[in-house]
Amino acid sequence: MEKRKSSVVIAGGGSTYTPEIVATLVNNLDRLPLRKVVLYDNDEERQNKLAKACEIIVKEKDPAIEFLATVDPKEAYTDIDFCLAHIRVGQLPMRELDEKIALRRGVVGQETCGPGGMAYGMRSIDGVLENIDYMEKYSPNAWMLNYSNPAAIVAEATRRFRPNSKVINICDMPIGIEQAIADIAGLNDRKDMDIRYYGLNHFGWWTKIEDKDGTDLLPKVVEWVKKNGYITKDEIEDPQSEASWSDTYMKAKDVVALDPTTLPNTYLKYYLYSDYVVEHDNPEYTRANEVMDTREKDVFSACKQIAERGTTKGSYLEITNHATFIVDLTVALAFNTKERMLLIVENNGAIENFSADAMVEIPCIVGKDGYEPLAMGKIPTFQKGLMEQQVACEKLVVDAWEENSYLKMWQALTMNKCVPSAKVAKDLLDDYIEANKEYWPELK
Ligand code: NAD
Ligand code: G6P
Ligand code: MN
Repeated sequence: MEKRKSSVVIAGGGSTYTPEIVATLVNNLDRLPLRKVVLYDNDEERQNKLAKACEIIVKEKDPAIEFLATVDPKEAYTDIDFCLAHIRVGQLPMRELDEKIALRRGVVGQETCGPGGMAYGMRSIDGVLENIDYMEKYSPNAWMLNYSNPAAIVAEATRRFRPNSKVINICDMPIGIEQAIADIAGLNDRKDMDIRYYGLNHFGWWTKIEDKDGTDLLPKVVEWVKKNGYITKDEIEDPQSEASWSDTYMKAKDVVALDPTTLPNTYLKYYLYSDYVVEHDNPEYTRANEVMDTREKDVFSACKQIAERGTTKGSYLEITNHATFIVDLTVALAFNTKERMLLIVENNGAIENFSADAMVEIPCIVGKDGYEPLAMGKIPTFQKGLMEQQVACEKLVVDAWEENSYLKMWQALTMNKCVPSAKVAKDLLDDYIEANKEYWPELK
């Protein structure tokens, strides 16, 4: 029997990730047959820089697939089965401000961790809810796979404000780390492992790494990570990663030392070694600058070349496991594969000794009706304490957005582990309010 064909809209069509997602979608037509691919953005000029190339990528694979790039929500969201959402409200120049405002006050400047992530959260909520509403209005049966950052805060907002919407919040970081873990363990593929993992987004730990025969690989991997972080043997011999990501992968060696019975998410370096992060960052040139000077330039120039030549032949677009994960999740929903995947979902007892209403990142079984979270049992005091502080911070950000509350946002910033005092929190808040006038609700 022929498989049903799906129709997909990419929200944030002008994102640097759009071309690789489009390319990965059409490279997987055997698993996920498509009838339509739509790009939707609220910045026409930016999206147009990528749209022609994306159309060529699609049509070269299968001219029968309809392609559309639009800034009209009705056109974009009509007759859609899946929305892949990766918007960045305020775009990369606002990310630059998130990072620099914090760093100039000696605090971690990062897009999802610390005060920068919280400022970004206050910008993202509206944009994500708006896209959910378009989807529900024009294609009420569609699923949204949302990986717009900061995923933890966005996920709390979707839980609270759109509890019945078909939205799944996800992150690719565990997938990237799992590929490194598989390499370190001597396996070819992360899918050759059985894992257990729990935490919050960008804030979690693996408690089990086994091969398919049930052999425990975790101690061996921990020994490697203690010395080399998640830098694999191949990467040591022939480094491919950007310097800032290598540093993050390497720093995992100090993060793992705090609990060598588990393997940590790399993002914990921002919370556990924030002094180190601040010392090693340059407040005049942050990750946003690096992204604008590398990924953004590379992707836009590759797309320009593809559009000018009318073919993808001879042009280079990098494809990472980020896009593969998103296709895997779409396939699981479309064809009921019951694949086990890490998602950001309401806890509801999955972590036994943790708040029921916290959004946690845990393994779930994914099929046509959505996801079924797996029980993770009780977690230790160290992780529980860290997670409680962080989840309180994330909830207070959403409270501040909901209630237009200056006080709640001040409490949120004070609660964040990267912020040293209420005084610094207040200074940061006033700076962020000034920078985000166009995007934040007015706080009273
Ligand atoms: P980008 O700035 O290149 O692209 C984002 C696009 O979203 C822009 O074209 C912008 O105009 C558009 N946009 C903003 N508000 C919108 C709205 N309300 N409706 C429609 N479109 C809107 O950003 P990028 O670096 O490519 O990243 C895109 C997003 O994906 C970011 O949020 C990033 O953090 C996230 N991301 C998440 C993961 C994850 O694991 N969760 C992984 C990679 C990227
Ligand atoms: C990881 C994280 C994402 C983040 C991405 C890109 O994949 O999981 O949440 O957006 O890295 O970060 P970068 O600094 O390269 O834009
Ligand atoms: Mn992420």
